[in-house]
Amino acid sequence: MKINYILLLILLLIKLINSFNYEFDGKYKISEKLTDHLINNQDEENIKIWVTFNSKKKENFYNIEEFSKNNGLKKESIERRINRCHDKNKIIDDSDIIINQDFINQVLTCGNENTIKLIQKSNWLNSISISLLKETSNKLIDCIKSLEFVETVDLVTKFKKKTTTTTTTKPLSSSSNEFNGCLKNDEDNSKFEKEFNNLIEKKLLDLKNKLYSSSASASASASSSDSYFNEIPDKYYGYSNTGLRQINVDKLHEMGYDGFGIKILITDTGYRKSHEVFKHMKIIGEYNFLKNKNNTQDDFDPFFKDVNEQQTGHGTFTLSTLGGYRPGVLIGAAYNASFLLAETENATSDFPLEEDNWIAAIEWGESHGAQLVSSSLGYENWYTYANKDGHFSKISRVATMAVNKGMVVVMGVGNSGDLGMGIPADAEYVISVGAIDSNGERTEFSSIGPTADGRIKPEVMALGLGNLVAHNLNDTTYDRFDGTSFSCPLVASGIALLMQAHPNWSPKQIYEAVISSASKSKSPDYLMGFGIFNALKAYEHNPTNSSDCTINGIGCSNSNGRCNLQSKQCQCELPFYGQFCQYNRIPCGQRCLFLNSTCGIPSNNFNVSFTCIEPNIGDFSNQSPKLNNNNFYKSLFIIFLFFISI
Ligand SMILES: *[C@@H]1O[C@H](CO)[C@@H](O)[C@H](O)[C@H]1NC(C)=O
Ligand SMILES: *[C@@H]1O[C@H](CO)[C@@H](O)[C@H](O)[C@H]1NC(C)=O
Ligand SMILES: *[C@@H]1O[C@H](CO)[C@@H](O)[C@H](O)[C@H]1NC(C)=O
Ligand SMILES: *[C@@H]1O[C@H](CO)[C@@H](O)[C@H](O)[C@H]1NC(C)=O
Ligand SMILES: *[C@@H]1O[C@H](CO)[C@@H](O)[C@H](O)[C@H]1NC(C)=O
Ligand SMILES: *[C@@H]1O[C@H](CO)[C@@H](O)[C@H](O)[C@H]1NC(C)=O
Ligand SMILES: *[C@@H]1O[C@H](CO)[C@@H](O)[C@H](O)[C@H]1NC(C)=O
Repeated sequence: MKINYILLLILLLIKLINSFNYEFDGKYKISEKLTDHLINNQDEENIKIWVTFNSKKKENFYNIEEFSKNNGLKKESIERRINRCHDKNKIIDDSDIIINQDFINQVLTCGNENTIKLIQKSNWLNSISISLLKETSNKLIDCIKSLEFVETVDLVTKFKKKTTTTTTTKPLSSSSNEFNGCLKNDEDNSKFEKEFNNLIEKKLLDLKNKLYSSSASASASASSSDSYFNEIPDKYYGYSNTGLRQINVDKLHEMGYDGFGIKILITDTGYRKSHEVFKHMKIIGEYNFLKNKNNTQDDFDPFFKDVNEQQTGHGTFTLSTLGGYRPGVLIGAAYNASFLLAETENATSDFPLEEDNWIAAIEWGESHGAQLVSSSLGYENWYTYANKDGHFSKISRVATMAVNKGMVVVMGVGNSGDLGMGIPADAEYVISVGAIDSNGERTEFSSIGPTADGRIKPEVMALGLGNLVAHNLNDTTYDRFDGTSFSCPLVASGIALLMQAHPNWSPKQIYEAVISSASKSKSPDYLMGFGIFNALKAYEHNPTNSSDCTINGIGCSNSNGRCNLQSKQCQCELPFYGQFCQYNRIPCGQRCLFLNSTCGIPSNNFNVSFTCIEPNIGDFSNQSPKLNNNNFYKSLFIIFLFFISI
């Protein structure tokens, strides 16, 4: 009798704990974000939602070949995992199993082809994104959430893109807000945006005379009054000389590395594939996730529009930085790599960006064997500083999953200066890149870290001011642009050479090598991270080998770690921590003050209480410090339960 009573109490409490969830109402499976949107959204015709399922089909993991066939993984993907995922027992897992098609069909039969459209699928999140006709959306959502295999229904996060790429002839005097990077919360930033728009206007005036053609190249540029164009081009590296030599990529070229055999996924707008710098380029696949087709260049692209709104603009710029090849004008360091082009961003400035496209592109590239991702985007609108903990947003979680499947992920950190980094640059083991000038000084617009949980961001820096890129106006034009959009592919192209040189290094070892060999690796900060990327030193790095420490008393080679001879274990120098001592502890109070963020106060979007937990310093473990949000309350209940049971 008494035992039954206690059992009942326990059951009741477990139910309470489970329903005590800020993000989802346990009973209705529907997120607050979506509920709010259904009430407040007046203007949009369609509502796009995530539907997450609670289970997958059972699969046999022992026969990898059969598994790959059933689940759409190309052999290149499996090869990469075997070569670069060092946990051999985890080559494939549940997240690789494709979504149960029956579930998708049943969701779609809640409506008809006029009221529900399937947009993207994410096997990793076991979710689909669907678009619902607004008038019927309440009824459709009622139907969908009543399906027993539906776990949650959530809003697809959209990001407003109001301002556009910088195109400058002079270093910016104030922070700039680039194109698809780092948009900010409306209320805080109207002043900032006004300043920025003034800057943009001035720049557009300059634009006309700035474009030049390689056929007339050096002489055309010399006639310009702009000092960037007066640079004497290197015989081989052309106008890419400064940026490439600054990060020692030329040394790896001299050793014969050029990216051969490395598959690089790029996610951006469209691309002008016909440009002369891409003539040599091996494009092994492409997909337009906006229009659901496999051509990434065929959009009519009127050139009377602002260059930032041309659909093939930004993608052409970044792709040429990665792997363009026109000796004497422009060299992208990884010119001999193979490329997968994903079109995920709409360049039209008032059109919202949507997270599901980026997620679908990452999974597509991964399944096709991409080893490296270069993504010059960051999303910020809607997210608060407290959300930037590497786990909160779906895209940040997906970015870290890609790393765990053997891919190296390189992101621009953003162009919002003091306002902080974009998402998913906050993700763990994502290499986020800030911008410096040709003297190695940080540009003011380069977004600062750290993450909400105190990790150093950006990871490294490279040139992001006056970078020469191929322009999409015609097949022979070039231009100069500023932004972390360009320092990102610069670092990614160097990392491609590093990966070619070390075919078995895991993404985490690449990460370790990159941060441990950068210019400020021993004294990182939240402005320039671990400093300027150094491809040569990263190549020479010996990755940490903890069994070497145990056996020989050496091998903890990270510059912030050492082998403790008593315990025979790798240990971090204070105040570093993490598997590769890659995290520096920036005290909670300090970083919150610095960013004027809502430390310790519930944020306005979700009632997530943001309580910093300081990590155990000097801990050489895989654990990252966790934010204390819902779990804090859950643990209160657990303590409560404990007392009752006694
Ligand atoms: C490309 O644009 C440049 C600069 O406007 C111009 O000089 C050149 O003639 C154009 N080339 C072609 C093939 O249209
Ligand atoms: C794109 O699709 C067309 C027709 O469906 C096909 O012939 C072509 O090979 C595809 N291209 C790529 C790069 O996948
Ligand atoms: C790419 O690498 C292959 C193999 O090393 C080589 O044969 C080829 O010439 C290289 N291509 C370029 C453009 O250098
Ligand atoms: C971008 O959005 C605009 C406005 O909705 C649309 O007209 C255009 O077709 C979109 N572009 C692409 C490439 O999807
Ligand atoms: C790590 O060190 C051990 C012991 O010296 C050695 O046997 C092993 O090969 C090393 N592993 C790597 C990946 O270098
Ligand atoms: C932070 O707050 C202080 C005091 O309210 C203000 O002076 C400063 O401009 C703010 N900084 C930012 C980056 O918003
Ligand atoms: C969040 O907390 C505030 C203050 O306690 C409260 O007024 C508000 O209703 C809460 N929002 C939600 C969506 O629960």
